[in-house]
Amino acid sequence: MTLWQSRLPDGAAPELDAYSSSIHFDRRLGPYDIEGSLAHVNGLAKAGIISNEEAQILVTALTHVKKELVEGAFTFLPSDEDIHTAIERRVTEIAGEIGAKLHTGRSRNDQVTTATRLLLRHDLVEIGIKIVGLCRALLDQSTRLHEAYMPGYTHMQRAQPVPIAHHLLAHAWALDRDLDRIVSTLHRMNVSPLGAGALAGSSLPLDPEYVASELGFSSSFDNSMDAVSDRDYVAEALFDLALLGVHLSRIGEEIVIWSTQEFGFITIADAYATGSSMLPQKKNPDIAELTRGKSGRLLGNLAGFLATLKGLPLAYNRDLQEDKEPLFDSLDQVSLALEAMTGLVSTLSFNTSTTKQAADGEEGVAVDLAEWLVAKGMPFRQAHGLIASLVKNASERHLTLAELVRIHPDLGEEAISLMEPGVSLARRVTHGGASEVSVKEQTGKLSSRLTERLEQLNGFGMHKRGETSF
Ligand code: ARG
Repeated sequence: MTLWQSRLPDGAAPELDAYSSSIHFDRRLGPYDIEGSLAHVNGLAKAGIISNEEAQILVTALTHVKKELVEGAFTFLPSDEDIHTAIERRVTEIAGEIGAKLHTGRSRNDQVTTATRLLLRHDLVEIGIKIVGLCRALLDQSTRLHEAYMPGYTHMQRAQPVPIAHHLLAHAWALDRDLDRIVSTLHRMNVSPLGAGALAGSSLPLDPEYVASELGFSSSFDNSMDAVSDRDYVAEALFDLALLGVHLSRIGEEIVIWSTQEFGFITIADAYATGSSMLPQKKNPDIAELTRGKSGRLLGNLAGFLATLKGLPLAYNRDLQEDKEPLFDSLDQVSLALEAMTGLVSTLSFNTSTTKQAADGEEGVAVDLAEWLVAKGMPFRQAHGLIASLVKNASERHLTLAELVRIHPDLGEEAISLMEPGVSLARRVTHGGASEVSVKEQTGKLSSRLTERLEQLNGFGMHKRGETSF
């Protein structure tokens, strides 16, 4: 039996059930749908549309259904098209005829987007907390490695030596921007659509602001048509997750490269590596590769859903049901990736003598020699040309750069001291630069930034019923 039995008494063609039904994925909305329904029931009672006794019966039934859902004891029926119809059906079984009042002044159109916002708010906060965890793993590695350095690359060619900490923290700053984006998405999406009805509000004396505050939303909708058709928050979350996935993928890529025998910069902990079914000697960086691979899927979820939204007329259209699978998939994949990458990063060991040896190559100080000449008054372009010709000469004549620096009249012994291991690096003390001093400064800034981010995240959904997590 459907909720629209009286209008379409013959029911849908049986072969359409599997096509139309969303219960196999939207059951995940269950506890959030109930949270929305509890607020709605309170709102109906407050407006005098149902009595307090009726509200109590509905609240008791909803609470019971929530328990069944959370404990896995809820029995779904083939006629349950989606989680909203399933819950209303079950509430009516428990509450009897009072159950028929639950859907007063409400449509599944405002109901589904309310539940999706509640779920997403909860899950984005969880993901944000996991990002902070990964940033802290990067910070901890940086602190452990404070004096170690490695070559920094441009175009994958050795460029200048940098502290390993500086390199690792570069990834943490990208993740901090992901956090910033998630917090700002949370701010924008924290608006209640409940009370918009099918599309035009209601003739009943509902109070959308009241239910909004019951659910911990910062406000309620201003336009009922926009409220039921807006899925910007889903698209934004998919973008935030896709870009976060791209950042994780870049970390993964470096872990893959650094763990090769050719680089040998890191050793992956056994617990975060995999072997080969055929080659006995193999130790593979599968976790990093999976993270790199999954980023493609996250981009696909975003692009696919934007295509779904494009050209949809107002207001609700069933196409919008297509929001959930990409959203849930991106949330799940990112959440798993963050846990895996946090473990992988925190258990990496750096082979600091290898990284040092790679970074101590003479050419890594070429620009420092040029800047030393600049400090002595030589125009940079001229200094650049001079050092470049020494590098070229050294390579053509099979000499070391140091030999040519030592005998050059503009350079000599004083310039040679710059070529001592680690010396040039310590001189890059500008703000955000690659010296140990600058790294210390950014470490302090990043750690306090992460504490602020946690406070911002925890501020969402801390409303009076405290029922955001299930
Ligand atoms: N399962 C639907 C969705 O996810 C719920 C809303 C259905 N509304 C309707 N008018 N058919 O969008």
